[in-house]
Amino acid sequence: MSVDVSRARADTPGCETVLHFNNAGAALSPAPVLDTVIGHLRREAEIGGYEAAAEAREALSRTYTAAARLIGGAADEIAFIENATRAWDMAFYGFDWQPGDRILTARSEYVSNYIAYLQVARRHGAEVIPVPDDADGQISIAALESMIDARTRLIAITHIPTNGGLVNPAADVGRVARAHGIPFLLDACQSVGQIPVNVDDIGCDMLSATGRKYLRGPRGTGFLWVRRNWIEKLEPPFLDLHAAEWTGPDSYEIRPDARRFENWESFVAGRLGLGAAIDYALALGLTDIRDSIYALARRLRAGLSSIKGVAVHDQGREKCGIVSFTMETHAAEAIKQAMAAQRINVTVSGRSSTLLDMTDRNLETVVRASVHYYNTDAEVDRFCAAIEALGRYSTSGLNGTGGDSNQP
Ligand SMILES: Cc1ncc(COP(=O)(O)O)c(C=O)c1O
Repeated sequence: MSVDVSRARADTPGCETVLHFNNAGAALSPAPVLDTVIGHLRREAEIGGYEAAAEAREALSRTYTAAARLIGGAADEIAFIENATRAWDMAFYGFDWQPGDRILTARSEYVSNYIAYLQVARRHGAEVIPVPDDADGQISIAALESMIDARTRLIAITHIPTNGGLVNPAADVGRVARAHGIPFLLDACQSVGQIPVNVDDIGCDMLSATGRKYLRGPRGTGFLWVRRNWIEKLEPPFLDLHAAEWTGPDSYEIRPDARRFENWESFVAGRLGLGAAIDYALALGLTDIRDSIYALARRLRAGLSSIKGVAVHDQGREKCGIVSFTMETHAAEAIKQAMAAQRINVTVSGRSSTLLDMTDRNLETVVRASVHYYNTDAEVDRFCAAIEALGRYSTSGLNGTGGDSNQP
């Protein structure tokens, strides 16, 4: 089954304004999300911020249940954090890293995660080891299995890397992690909201997600899930009055649930909006969402591949809604700008966002066109026609025009 696209578009005010293929950047929010955020901001202005939060207590509490349902966890294993990076950090920096600890990751790992590995390597003498890819360009499960030893402290990978359509075989990684009793941290920033994600099926112990991408929530929102038996083994790198209790002049106690990873002050309207976005996704069903997205992405890949001078770069056995490509005639940034002039949104992924993978494949920048279920076949065709026309009529800008090629 697929999502009812007319209904989805009727719910999405942005569909009237733009052809939005930047859903892996930030998707267009549906009306219920927008109404929730604006409604709460209005209440804050009318009655006061603390008072509005008190009034929304029930709804706020329901956001934990909704996030837990979305990924198959429990409400007390969820922490709402302002983005996926900080959510991931709260788990990663919660380990007491020791010299010689080994972190196994994938070659398509995300820049911010990798910088964190390198920092821990520099600070504590841990070792970060990227596992080779298999012939399909996804993490090699055989190589992962063979690289595990007594010093392996963590397996951490990105489910759907930032720079293309690859879906890493997270559940296979989880099986290896479980078989060896090694904790598994999954960056699910681009998979949650796009495909069904279930922490028990995958076998991960920690998972980070963001609100603004495929979940269609507000910017500045995200969450962390930590399996119950891991919560108290991880010491949050930062504590405040919400994460811990000041029990005496020289003592404090960290709370036992996942809210130890949160901080007290937060974007309450955004959190409520994220709750509304999760409810919206759950009502549609993640399997239908995935099927609709994958069908559009298949059409987009086929359309782009048939255009002379265009190369599609997506890897992996399973390919998602993110389509990455280059053109012989135009640099990625120039393509993005040419599309923007026609009210078509795409973005550019630069080498340093996934440095190992892009270097392996000798790619400097790729255009990232990412579809969502509210996009249409007609939009895909219009996009391909625009790319074809760009290649046919103009050959300027091969070297690009600068710009920020490192947008997440
Ligand atoms: C794979 C991956 N992980 C993490 C992030 C960071 O997410 P956030 O910007 O919400 O911190 C991104 C953003 O693009 C991403 O693509």
